[in-house]
Amino acid sequence: MKVRKAVIPAAGLGTRVLPATKSMPKEMLPIVDKPAIQYIVEEAVQAGITDILVITNRGKGLIEDHFDRVPELEARLSGSEEKREILNDVVNIAHLANIYFVRQKETRGLGHAVSCARDFVGNEPFAVLYGDDVILGEDPVCAQLIRAYEEFGLGVAGVKEVSPEAIQKYSSLKVEPVRDRIFRCTDMIEKPTPDQILSLYSILGRCVLPPEIFDILDRTPPGAGGEIQLTDAMCTLARTTGMIAVDFEGTRYDMGNKLGIMQAQVEVALRHPQIGEAFRDYLKEVAAKL
Ligand code: UTP
Repeated sequence: MKVRKAVIPAAGLGTRVLPATKSMPKEMLPIVDKPAIQYIVEEAVQAGITDILVITNRGKGLIEDHFDRVPELEARLSGSEEKREILNDVVNIAHLANIYFVRQKETRGLGHAVSCARDFVGNEPFAVLYGDDVILGEDPVCAQLIRAYEEFGLGVAGVKEVSPEAIQKYSSLKVEPVRDRIFRCTDMIEKPTPDQILSLYSILGRCVLPPEIFDILDRTPPGAGGEIQLTDAMCTLARTTGMIAVDFEGTRYDMGNKLGIMQAQVEVALRHPQIGEAFRDYLKEVAAKL
């Protein structure tokens, strides 16, 4: 079955980026001139997704506003020839896809957030794009995962190798190679202790799941941090039907921590057609001084 729906969980508290995220959702933090979540929606759309559900909560109304039309602003921009290009950009944001919103009423973890998408998803496979993971590259990661889902008919996790120190903060997967960049996954664990590490492959920000995941999530008790972990539900899937892991191509920026945010800003700014050259000169100058 074709994957045409995506879920973007964006209801986390963003405690690692406080105080910036006290009233501003981390998903709305800008990377040069677009908020993080717009890059994520654009990736999904490039992968052929037509319907997107964003999981929000109290205080995340800014996300809804960003994907809406703004008649007053558009009227002002349309009055000026030089603002026409930006007018198109502003209007197009509202037409990227059919974007829906639902609130996760309590912050009970990523697994719980995904379970809020049950009615939206129905009986179809769907992609999950974590709202604080921006991944940039030629071939959208979401498309790389959807191709694997269509080939193998199994849930797919986007993975990367991380350092032995980092793996304890993420998940660890038991994998066997199928071919270049593709693995079969039969087990996984969230936030492993050193003796629980299955491999240094960790799920980073993207997966494609069958609708059976919702029944599994309903039966999944709270795990690491007292939260309902999506990894725990995917672990059940991996141990029963098996899953596929795709070592994706693309650069991932973790917008959930301060260093990740700055890396995204700097790298995207250096490649930006309008400011790239000037920003490179500025960086050299400032790095020589400080
Ligand atoms: P994180 O665990 O990285 O987000 O979840 P967080 O809880 O905001 O992080 P900190 O530790 O407090 O800084 C990954 C993704 O899942 C979403 C987050 O918004 C993020 O995009 N999420 C997490 C939810 O939607 N609901 C939750 O209950 C937890």
